[in-house]
Amino acid sequence: MNPGTWERRLYRRAHPFAYPLLRLLARRGPVVRVPGLGVVVNDAALARQVLLDGETFRKDGPGSSGDLWTPILGPSVLLNMEGPAHRALRARLAELFTPGYADRLCAQVLAEPLAALSGRLGRGEPVDLVDTMRVMAGAVICAVVGLESRSEDDHRQMFHRGEQIVSMVTLRTRTLPPAQARRAREVLEPVGEIAARAYLAGDQSTVMGRMRELGISEAEARGAAGAFFLTGTETVATLVPRLIALLHDAGQFDRVAADPALLDPAIDEAMRVSTPTPMMLRSVHAETAIGDVPVRPGDRVLLATHNCCQAYGPFDLDRPHPPELRRLWFGAGPHFCIGYPLAMAEIRAVAATILSAAPLRIVRRSAARGVLIPTYRELVVTR
Ligand code: HEM
Repeated sequence: MNPGTWERRLYRRAHPFAYPLLRLLARRGPVVRVPGLGVVVNDAALARQVLLDGETFRKDGPGSSGDLWTPILGPSVLLNMEGPAHRALRARLAELFTPGYADRLCAQVLAEPLAALSGRLGRGEPVDLVDTMRVMAGAVICAVVGLESRSEDDHRQMFHRGEQIVSMVTLRTRTLPPAQARRAREVLEPVGEIAARAYLAGDQSTVMGRMRELGISEAEARGAAGAFFLTGTETVATLVPRLIALLHDAGQFDRVAADPALLDPAIDEAMRVSTPTPMMLRSVHAETAIGDVPVRPGDRVLLATHNCCQAYGPFDLDRPHPPELRRLWFGAGPHFCIGYPLAMAEIRAVAATILSAAPLRIVRRSAARGVLIPTYRELVVTR
């Protein structure tokens, strides 16, 4: 099967109007000014140029994603900060998710759920990878914010909490109406409480405890927990079923299963075509140009990561990624995803367990409606 068929279906089901428009804009050129929307960038090299210039293109001005997240998460949560304050907080958080720590955290938190998954696949049971990933991503985020959770239901509940907030947002949302922002804060409140307790306990084996050691204030730690929770749960959870489906549809599942060195290239290529964060926003703070298109202060820039990445063609495990494309799906420059090592550790751990049950076939799947990040509603595999 053409591996792009289901990916397009996921996007169309999630965004029936915005997705065709987004793809149409890709054909209008590398940079397109769309009245009422902003300046859309469809080219990886130009998008990277914008991301690297954090002085001119910022996340804290009107029309940037800060407008959306500040009423929910507070004013100082990385993704709505710029300049020296942003650099200082990032420098302190840099220690948090080192690759070694992320690997250890996932190995510890996921040991039990991965053993259960392995057992079910090994016995030939049908397994819904969508539900499986909700439990895994929920377990990791519980550990990150410091919730002592015991059961799969705890993890599912935590995942659902994040979903409730993210589902309030559409590709057109600039800021949430006050009632929805209040509701989002209510949903998030217990997460902040748990995080603050773990922070005050100061246990060095927990992420929140380590934040205290790194000199981060309680308010900053609460904000960071909320930001990790909202940005680091659905992104990871939706990617794994899409990765497995892409490998299956491209006829490459058994090849990657037989050669662990192919796992990272497979993850990168699946990220390129699926782009869990299909868009990044900036607001312009100085007169300049993106490619041939002049921009002025107050302009809104939509970096269409999905279009940038699609320009390189369909899913192909053997496709080299040129420098301008390199991990663009995690951003670039000062706001590059701080959870990258954790996301990769989580995805690798679960994907490796699924691959070790090869050969697998997909027995049932459907696309999810009404979601911000395109995803399967279910993806059932069996041996
Ligand atoms: C597949 C998984 C993920 C993808 C595709 C992803 C993607 C991204 C992208 C594209 C950005 C940059 C946005 C921009 O510049 O406007 C970003 C930033 C961020 N990500 Fe991730 N992310 C993932 C997982 C995670 C995880 C697991 C965490 C934490 C637990 C996380 C936490 C953050 C935070 C806090 C930022 C803001 C950083 C800043 O503004 O300095 N992400 N992510």
